[in-house]
Amino acid sequence: MKLVQVVIQYKLAIVSLVIAFSLFGNANAGSVEDAIAERIKPVGSVCVAGDDCAKGLLLAAAGPKSGEEVYNSSCLACHSSGAAGAPKFRNAGDWAGRLAAGLDTVYANAIAGIGAMPAKGLCMSCSDDEIKASIDYMIEGL
Ligand code: HEC
Repeated sequence: MKLVQVVIQYKLAIVSLVIAFSLFGNANAGSVEDAIAERIKPVGSVCVAGDDCAKGLLLAAAGPKSGEEVYNSSCLACHSSGAAGAPKFRNAGDWAGRLAAGLDTVYANAIAGIGAMPAKGLCMSCSDDEIKASIDYMIEGL
């Protein structure tokens, strides 16, 4: 009688082990595979536009710089003081004669460079539109 009980308990233990393994075994196998994949993945990975990993980068690079940003980083050095005869920031007298030639001419001169004014104020990474926006900012209200 005792022996029978022991055998039954032994069998029950095995059955519950098998059940436990079939319940949790697969889930564990999946996470082990994931863990291995995570560990053996290449050290460097390529971020492609549209990937989640590229979101921050795209934000940083996204969108044109504002006129104010371009002015502060590339134009202010000469155009706040009027260095080398640069027309000063929002100074109507300095700009009147130049604007008389038409805004498109003024844009084009700043993009191509004129006299002591270097092409694009040396902001070679600036797009034409960013240069135009910084000019708009410089002459705003005139
Ligand atoms: C190294 C100094 C310097 C920097 C930097 C500079 N400028 Fe100039 N800028 C000048 C000078 C000098 C002139 C006057 C040139 C002339 O008429 O002989 C001028 C003229 C201009 C004019 C008038 C063009 C015309 O048609 O008469 C515009 C517009 C202009 N700059 C825009 C900008 C913008 C926008 C930036 C920044 C992205 C910038 N400049 C950066 C020196 C500079």
